[in-house]
Amino acid sequence: MKAKPIQFLDLRQSHETIRAGLTEQWDNTLDTNGFIGGASVTVFEKAFARYCGVAHAVGVANGTDALELILTGLGIGQGHEVIVPANTFIATAEAVVRVGAKPVFVDVDSATALLTADLVEAAITTRTAAVMAVHLYGQMVDMERLLEVTRPHGIAVIEDAAQAHGATWKGKRAGSWGIAAGFSFYPGKNLGALGDGGAVTTDDHALATTIRSLANHGRAEHSKYEHDIVGRNSRLDGLQAALLTVKLDELDNWTKGRRGAAALYDRLLPDSFVPITQAEEAVGVYHLYVIRSEKIPRQVVADALSDNNIGWGIHYPIPCHRQRPYQNHVIEHLPVTDTQSSQILSLPMHPHLTSDEIERVCDVLRGLE
Ligand SMILES: Cc1ncc(COP(=O)(O)O)c(C=O)c1O
Repeated sequence: MKAKPIQFLDLRQSHETIRAGLTEQWDNTLDTNGFIGGASVTVFEKAFARYCGVAHAVGVANGTDALELILTGLGIGQGHEVIVPANTFIATAEAVVRVGAKPVFVDVDSATALLTADLVEAAITTRTAAVMAVHLYGQMVDMERLLEVTRPHGIAVIEDAAQAHGATWKGKRAGSWGIAAGFSFYPGKNLGALGDGGAVTTDDHALATTIRSLANHGRAEHSKYEHDIVGRNSRLDGLQAALLTVKLDELDNWTKGRRGAAALYDRLLPDSFVPITQAEEAVGVYHLYVIRSEKIPRQVVADALSDNNIGWGIHYPIPCHRQRPYQNHVIEHLPVTDTQSSQILSLPMHPHLTSDEIERVCDVLRGLE
């Protein structure tokens, strides 16, 4: 008989604890017809801006659009280069290519698997317009050093905070460091909608106004019928905003659960497996708990977990610069990214993971040594 499953991500448990609040918002949306825009979007935008410690949050359709809208809002496109870590979800690079700019892929640090200021500095050219600071796995990039090296060149630092809701660097939250940040509310994210959703956060009032307009058919700020710029439709639904407001109240509790699980993994993980670590100044939110398996082939590890009914994932097995449509942007072999992409494996991680489950996962890993 197969062992009891250990889920990679358990959204059902999270939703069960707030079911009454979610259904109340569903009923309220049906009663008010507040499907697009309206009060629930404004309420969520204000709450999320406060949570991130910024002046503005603009709800958009998804995290990819958030990044693309930031680039467009900053006037970045044809003829510009944007520095992107090769170890990220494809959307980071996709947004750059969609606006007509060229992604310049850089390697990552071997301990944190994140982009570093030194790697960025080495990739700067006269065409560099921006850098995508991806807080991958829920751990923050060293934003202080990154701002330091980019400032003299007038390069915009854009945060891809899709996996990092609530993460901090020296106590200051993701989404409040760069000129703007893109968040995803894809259901599996730490703060997830019950469908697609995203947001841009920024302290820049003019940029927030431009992005709000771009995401809403280029509408003038206070006019339904005037369209000042060529925009598109990338709005956050009223229903999703209302549901996200309920979930935002729980986010810190859920983050606490994730951090507790990560601390126990750190303690119990057998020596053959190295966890991706975070810098001392960072407090992560463990969107994912990623380990590297240097000695034992990853497929052997994955098979053992599957045989024991334990969920796992790989983030990401094919780095961006090796993906077919992006290969013409390859400038060099990226040793850390290329090596780690064949070694990394994501263990079950969610706020409700129990000590018993973590012990069972680590026991299976220990059995492979
Ligand atoms: C690092 C990163 N960037 C961008 C995105 C894009 O977000 P979305 O799926 O909401 O478009 C995601 C998530 O999917 C992501 O993990």
